[in-house]
Amino acid sequence: MIRFLHHVGLSVPDLEVGRAFYEAFGLEARVSGEHLVLRCKGRGQDQIRLMPGSPKHLSYVAYGTDAAGMKQVRKNLKSHNVTLEDAPFNIDSKGIWFRDPSNDWVHICEGVEAPAAPRPTPEVNTHGRYRRIGQRACDLTSSSRIATPLRLGHLIKFSPDMDKSIAFYTQVLGMKVSDRAGDILGFLRFGCGGDHHALGLAKSSHSGLHHLSFEVMDIDEIEMGAQSLMAKGYISAFGLGRHVGGSNYFHYIRDPWNSLVEYFWDIDVIPEDDSDWVVLNAAGPHELAAVWAVGPPKEDFAHNYEVPDGAEQGPSMALNEALAHG
Ligand SMILES: [Fe+2]
Repeated sequence: MIRFLHHVGLSVPDLEVGRAFYEAFGLEARVSGEHLVLRCKGRGQDQIRLMPGSPKHLSYVAYGTDAAGMKQVRKNLKSHNVTLEDAPFNIDSKGIWFRDPSNDWVHICEGVEAPAAPRPTPEVNTHGRYRRIGQRACDLTSSSRIATPLRLGHLIKFSPDMDKSIAFYTQVLGMKVSDRAGDILGFLRFGCGGDHHALGLAKSSHSGLHHLSFEVMDIDEIEMGAQSLMAKGYISAFGLGRHVGGSNYFHYIRDPWNSLVEYFWDIDVIPEDDSDWVVLNAAGPHELAAVWAVGPPKEDFAHNYEVPDGAEQGPSMALNEALAHG
């Protein structure tokens, strides 16, 4: 039913601090009323909408679908007694709004996913399949050593009730489970096929954003992006490495409010006809974390820094403890 990830809305205490970080990450910013909208260069689709608010929190996630998908979503929401609500934010977007079992806002609009800006695909010389002949891999003329993200590929958000959340996103919105670690971590993809995960759910006492992940063109771009952010003083949380869940290469950097952003490349893609895909039911999240990585994740890699409603300080959460003891 839902077919693609459109964008996310974040409330942050300082839009200009957000602009500086996300521009350094490789996105383009433009003012939209009282908000700041971030897009991938050359791609006509919002990816992040920063709205004034404190403390920082994930405000909503927007997905897209086609006319048939929208009809089915409306039907499913009704049959599961999920109420459609008025738009909670001042955003110029047609579509429907409702809350998921974590009480997080979900927005679904009808439309088509915007294509990423066209770029030449780097050729790779693998034994037995040499494709880059007579050309250097490195562009010696380029003075730019930063990343240019192509698209927002996925997010992972915290959830206090994994079974309820997974049931909601699969039964009501048509997603499928790609891999899972009990009630600690679950990776969900769209039923129409595509990336191994568009949405990940991680167990916590309360909801919140763990990370946003953007696709780049190759492993070099992951690291050039991460290194350039680190040179500006932003903190590396995990990487470079290669995940088990999704197989993508990764590097995570902390944003100014302790959520994470990830550069990724080479994620598993699962077709709509997925009869050959075997779901991995891992004993713990550590089994899905990394085939290899340059060093372990930082101690607080899976900590939920978002503050629950009405509390001053968020407690530590299950995923972080499971990773630490795994
Ligand atoms: Fe990720």
